Amino acid sequence: MRNDSITNSNAAKTTSLLRSFIAAACAESPHLLRVLHAVQQQFLHISDQAAHEVAAHLDLPYSQVDAVVEFYSFFHKNPRGRYDILFSNCTSCGYMAGGVDLMTMLARRLGVVAGKTRNDGLVSIDQTSCIGMCDHGAALLVNGVPVVRVDAAMITRIANLVEAETPLADWPAGWFYVEDNICVSGLLLNDVLTAGDSLHAMLARGADDTLNEIIQSGLRGRGGAGFSTGMKWKFCREAQGDAHYVVCNADEGEPGTFKDRILLHSHADALFEGMTECAYVIGAEQGFLYLRGEYRYLLPHLQSVLARRRELGLLGADIFGQTGFSFDPEFDFDIEIVVGAGAYICGEESAMIESLEGKRGIPRLRPPFPVTHGYLGQPTVVNNVETFVAAAHIALRGSAWFRSAGTGSSAGSKLLSVSGDCAKPGIYEYPFGVSIRQVLDDCGATDVLAVQVGGPSGTLIGSAEFNRRLSFDDLQTGGSLMVFSRARDLLAVIVNFAYFFAHESCGLCTPCRVGTSLLRNGLDKIASGRGTRYDLDEMQRMAMLVKRRSHCGLGQTAANPILDALQRFPQVFEKRLVLREFEPHFNMDAALEEARQISQRDDAAAHLSQT
Ligand SMILES: Cc1cc2nc3c(=O)[nH]c(=O)nc-3n(C[C@H](O)[C@H](O)[C@H](O)COP(=O)(O)O)c2cc1C
Ligand code: SF4
Repeated sequence: MRNDSITNSNAAKTTSLLRSFIAAACAESPHLLRVLHAVQQQFLHISDQAAHEVAAHLDLPYSQVDAVVEFYSFFHKNPRGRYDILFSNCTSCGYMAGGVDLMTMLARRLGVVAGKTRNDGLVSIDQTSCIGMCDHGAALLVNGVPVVRVDAAMITRIANLVEAETPLADWPAGWFYVEDNICVSGLLLNDVLTAGDSLHAMLARGADDTLNEIIQSGLRGRGGAGFSTGMKWKFCREAQGDAHYVVCNADEGEPGTFKDRILLHSHADALFEGMTECAYVIGAEQGFLYLRGEYRYLLPHLQSVLARRRELGLLGADIFGQTGFSFDPEFDFDIEIVVGAGAYICGEESAMIESLEGKRGIPRLRPPFPVTHGYLGQPTVVNNVETFVAAAHIALRGSAWFRSAGTGSSAGSKLLSVSGDCAKPGIYEYPFGVSIRQVLDDCGATDVLAVQVGGPSGTLIGSAEFNRRLSFDDLQTGGSLMVFSRARDLLAVIVNFAYFFAHESCGLCTPCRVGTSLLRNGLDKIASGRGTRYDLDEMQRMAMLVKRRSHCGLGQTAANPILDALQRFPQVFEKRLVLREFEPHFNMDAALEEARQISQRDDAAAHLSQT
């Protein structure tokens, strides 16, 4: 009886704590993702009760809140550990740098099964998609903060720090030190813009001429698709709506890409200036920076840059009013940062807009395009971080300066995130038209078997094509360049990409939802030496189907690594095939892996033979 009343009073206290916390979080910001982040951080999960409370406070259907919690990888319905550790399983910082093996090591040391929370609630360990630290060796996130250059010696120390419940502030500071790693700089990275310089140049020119300057510069989107930035701004400006919006795409989820990370870190003023110029041209009063959840550690820095710009009169109500440039007192513009929650698909612009609206990141049917029907159905420009930074430089220095670099159809420069088998991983900025061979020479890559240009959704090439050039006419890239030496198992790389796409498919359309899983399973079978010629042919057929029939860019590119590898490196598949007509798909031995982990047994008797 007494125990019951203690239990009831504890439950009542928890409920009241939850209620007041959620009421305060919703009052501070009514944005669903922001509130859910706050609840997840405070209570280590988002319970059903919490989801109901959030729905009531934000006046949303419970089903919407529940669906959002289900959708994003960084929200959980069951409690995570007080130390929630996520190892990047990206090809560069997870597989090649040994991150996934280090995860297994740490899980063993702490007696926790990967993907689960330890019974005492102290720690949970899991894998996550690329966290954008591919130039820093193996990397992980602990409670959202990156720890870089992880090695076996650090694993023992991390295990001890966790067991001793040492606050992160007392962990070695060097572990958290993320460098810019700029190896070659060019047009954009040669210098850091002084806050206000580009805006003042734009004001002197006026909105019409600034737009013309951006069009004349030939600037094309740096996020991958390469649409003319000036034309995008023009279409949006001309579109009818109650309000216009500017959105900066800082989702940077393509594995092997980390160039926006350094722009956000060291060139935030130029980025915000580019967004403000876009707002002035299209007539927007509100902008959003959609920051990937993996870069949440950059949030305080970005907030402080925004705050400083407001103080300087470069942002907020009546921009320039305080600096004597107030010839346009009508121009008010401010920028809000919304942090994503671990979903690669939210980099796709229409999925990102859904996410900004507090929904699951499901790509919309297009047309209509965001320039006419974007955020809240209103005309919206979505541009990549690098695009806005380039626009700020163009507003300051003019279109001729920008066109002086690059090629006819691809003006200016491109930032590359180089990782993998090379001596100097990091950021390389080149004029468009640079050859792959030049990049490989500069980053100290020798004995190279293959290069993945543009991340898993891009193009895989071999040495016969290293004279090809980076440009919108030849090899396009959003900024990722991964190098694989001849010592690498290329099939393992392709398998890793297939796991990525199967995990990140949003599930809306069947060709992608089912197809990416079937491709992953087929590759697993071949890589484990149980695939037949029939499996290979089936996989090729499936790859074409996924490419042709998927709804959005994720599905349409998910099979690229497989198709490229089949065309350029058929031997990596063929040498693994068995000469039989048929082999079962189900691998009994692999199915026992979790049981082996739980029982901490990996001896011969803990394995089953298929034959
Ligand atoms: C699956 C998928 C993921 C994407 N991820 C990003 C991203 O992380 N960053 C980005 O700028 N564009 C990304 N894009 C492209 C955007 O949809 C959009 O084209 C881009 O943000 C437009 O900006 P830009 O014109 O400056 O390139 C992605 C597209 C797809 C299909
Ligand atoms: S292609 Fe994939 S990611 Fe795109 S809508 Fe279909 S299921 Fe979602």
